[in-house]
Amino acid sequence: MCGICGIVGVPNAARLVLQGLRSLEYRGYDSCGVAWLDGALHAKKAVGGVDNLRLDGPAHETAALGHTRWATHGNVTQENAHPHLDCGGDVAVVHNGVLLNYETLRDALTTQGHTFRSQTDSEVLAHLWESHAGADGLERLRRLVQQLKGTFSIAILDRTEAALYVAKERNPLWVGATKTASFLASDPVALKPHLPAATPLEDGDHARLTPGRIDLFDAAGRPVQRTAQPLAGLDDRIDKAGYEHFMLKEIHETPASLNRILSAHVTIEPPHVDLHLPDAFLAKAQRVLFLGAGTSFHAGLLGAQFVRRLARLPADAQTSPEYKDATSVPEKGTLVVLLSQSGETLDTLQALHRIESLGPPLLALTNFPKSSIGRKADHVLELRTGVEVGVAATKTFLSQSLLVYLLALALARQRGTVGDAALLQAATELKRFSRAIDRVLFRTAEAGQLARELSRFDHVFLLAKDLLLPAAFEGALKLKEIAYLHAEAYAAGELKHGPFALLEKSTAVVFLLAPGAHEASLRNSLHEVHARGAPTFVIAMDGAQDPGPLATHTLWVPAAPFDLQPLVFSTALHLVSYWVAKARALPIDRPRNLAKSVTVE
Ligand code: G6P
Repeated sequence: MCGICGIVGVPNAARLVLQGLRSLEYRGYDSCGVAWLDGALHAKKAVGGVDNLRLDGPAHETAALGHTRWATHGNVTQENAHPHLDCGGDVAVVHNGVLLNYETLRDALTTQGHTFRSQTDSEVLAHLWESHAGADGLERLRRLVQQLKGTFSIAILDRTEAALYVAKERNPLWVGATKTASFLASDPVALKPHLPAATPLEDGDHARLTPGRIDLFDAAGRPVQRTAQPLAGLDDRIDKAGYEHFMLKEIHETPASLNRILSAHVTIEPPHVDLHLPDAFLAKAQRVLFLGAGTSFHAGLLGAQFVRRLARLPADAQTSPEYKDATSVPEKGTLVVLLSQSGETLDTLQALHRIESLGPPLLALTNFPKSSIGRKADHVLELRTGVEVGVAATKTFLSQSLLVYLLALALARQRGTVGDAALLQAATELKRFSRAIDRVLFRTAEAGQLARELSRFDHVFLLAKDLLLPAAFEGALKLKEIAYLHAEAYAAGELKHGPFALLEKSTAVVFLLAPGAHEASLRNSLHEVHARGAPTFVIAMDGAQDPGPLATHTLWVPAAPFDLQPLVFSTALHLVSYWVAKARALPIDRPRNLAKSVTVE
């Protein structure tokens, strides 16, 4: 989503802000801009990435503020890129979020004589600031914030005061200072080159940043100190390590991430799953609700299946964009599991805000324990993948899938629905499981062959049953996100109840075929689809009966224990989606219209 970075008190501040923006731009990347002070206020904006912003000439500036944009209001144009300036050219403003009442504000400001240059909601902030001229900067900020409805992190560079001002409501913002300089950013990764620790702001917080000094206030206007978080452990390696795309590199990092989780949480002697959660926390759970968006929701679907099957507890998964606006609330005794790789997805955060006053126990599964969602939760399970730059989540989905399985096992142990022998078997299988993922990755050439054939189609169904259905949903999402295919996942038996009407030579059907209980049923669907002349692509697990001529193309994947099969198929589908997108020559790491972390509704 939008990235924000600001610095005051360092020579060369604008160039350093651009460096900060580079570390954020994978999260939102349609346009960018920077403003700086060298006595006068200057601004430069560009459509596209930060490399399109060239700063020439001497660097006398000591304060600067920059932004990478993911458009919400107004097209992707230079005028709509941030920072936005007021009429007098004394202030530059950047914003992440959505201002719900911007039209009313803009109309009133226009009537007062202000001239707008963009179609954005954000520009009202610059003019509002201007309209409060005469008041002290902090007072101006408070008056401005009081007029806003919506979500925001705002940063303001004021020429007359040579200071930066910030305010936060539902969108992330971090600040930090050295003896001589102060810094702000929407993500602490941009602060790591400058600071050993930084402070995440809470909703309602607002501050003035001058060289080496931060005056921070809470929503009631009281001076407040927040706990700084160390930045040393933060993974800021934005590096493709020889791969053509981040996505392919990150798919190949999956086994290492899974092993990190297994080392932290699973032992064989004695067989044990230790999530490092207080016993009482899990013991209270009488049912489980998983909440997440996009790929994270698919991990929730899997988690709900695991919990129902292993712990025999009622469990459900809901998409957070829907749940945030729903009227139902979690029943008493519900453990709410919040899934978000970034920990900043606003839909998930809003779903959490809607129910938190009811006091359900909250467990977050995220890559960033100090993110907004991580900080709100009672406990966090960390995904341990290192930074994921490709917009399409891959290694983080596998980590989430493994963790929801471990959560189900831990609940099952506590409730006695999984005994000693079964746990020993599960722990033993888990410890060698990452090798199965390695073996999927060895078959990348075969995945590429299937993908090249699949890339000729514009419409694809993915069919699966039971535990593999969330993997099919995940595969369909990936094919949409990065390969721009119209892909839909269905429970295999459901296809004949309507979608069959769409089957023809130009509609590809992908089957996830595993040996065992559901094999015969899947083969039956395969026969039915084949009989209607639609091309069939089978991803078959070693041990299943060879589909032979029923399949237009078969990709074999290595065998895995039943519970872990979805992880194998998901990895194969991640690879296939990658190679389909590659065959279609698409911008794999930065698909059109998407953002890595969606911090607006
Ligand atoms: C965006 C991304 C998806 C991602 C979803 C949830 O929509 O494009 O790939 O799955 O956000 O992200 P989260 O960080 O909450 O897991």
